[in-house]
Amino acid sequence: MTAKLLPALPLVEQMKIDLKSRCEALKSRGTIPAMCVVLIGDNPASLSYIRNKRKICEEVGATFNLLQLPSNISEQDFLNYIEKLNHDPKIHGIIIQLPVSDHLKKLKLSNLVIASKDIDGFHGINTQRIYTGSTDLKLLVPCTPKGIIYLLKYYGVEIAGKHAVVIGRSLIVGKPLSMLLSNLNATVTLAHSKTQNLEEITKTADILISAIGKTHFIQAKHLNPAKKTIVIDVGMNTLNGKLTGDVGPDVAQVAGGVTPVPGGVGPMTVVSLIENLISATEIKIKG
Ligand SMILES: NC(=O)c1ccc[n+]([C@@H]2O[C@H](COP(=O)([O-])OP(=O)(O)OC[C@H]3O[C@@H](n4cnc5c(N)ncnc54)[C@H](OP(=O)(O)O)[C@@H]3O)[C@@H](O)[C@H]2O)c1
Repeated sequence: MTAKLLPALPLVEQMKIDLKSRCEALKSRGTIPAMCVVLIGDNPASLSYIRNKRKICEEVGATFNLLQLPSNISEQDFLNYIEKLNHDPKIHGIIIQLPVSDHLKKLKLSNLVIASKDIDGFHGINTQRIYTGSTDLKLLVPCTPKGIIYLLKYYGVEIAGKHAVVIGRSLIVGKPLSMLLSNLNATVTLAHSKTQNLEEITKTADILISAIGKTHFIQAKHLNPAKKTIVIDVGMNTLNGKLTGDVGPDVAQVAGGVTPVPGGVGPMTVVSLIENLISATEIKIKG
């Protein structure tokens, strides 16, 4: 039997309707939510991610701005631009699109955008909330982890008391996601490249989340079919010019459910970002 597919689209459509009405409520009070993406250079992958963000932002009725800066911009000029946006009362959310030029990587990028406009959810103040136990997804929570929790809830996947195995310990996905799952009372294993006996661990997973970045790394051998594991594929890799996930096609034969790539975690990340923009605006006008 083939596992149930867990596409994002029905939930994304539902969330867009909710975000549109929250946006209209803000407009009726005189505020149009507005975000600004700061792009350094013209990386084609970045431009494609930005197009997706712009599309949903405009669909829900918010304003999208792009500040494109040259790849050789000086550190000081870059900091000045961010400072200006931090103080601009018409901008409610700011993103520094990664990757930035090498000479800017030494800056502590995650804390440059002030916490109240940090719709990526990377600022120390926003991550600390998760690390101290918050499960409030309406606050500024890192977008990919937030989108994954929304998707699990939408498909009625039980989290409390279950064993969640997260592979990949990045600051944008694995670490905050493992904390959120723990806050929601899952028992969490956070695995990485130095983990030994990975297959033995993944076979005990009720929920398996792969954020590794290697095409079809997770295979049927990683799962125990009796567990009917829910598999969330975060990977965005390319194989022969095509977008691929971390999860191989044979996994569908033994899993309880699998998110597709494309059409799974990617769109959840974008809609969660736009929700962060609306939340940031609501929080600001509440004062
Ligand atoms: N769909 C989305 O919206 C979205 C959002 C963000 C990222 N992504 C995708 O998710 C993937 C991961 O990105 P990321 O930024 O979260 O992580 P990352 O910084 O690229 O790090 C990869 C992680 O995978 C671990 N890893 C590498 N090889 C492994 C192995 N053989 N066994 C177990 N763990 C291994 C690494 O372990 P070490 O820490 O030991 O090096 C590291 O923690 C990429 O494909 C990225 O494009 C997708």
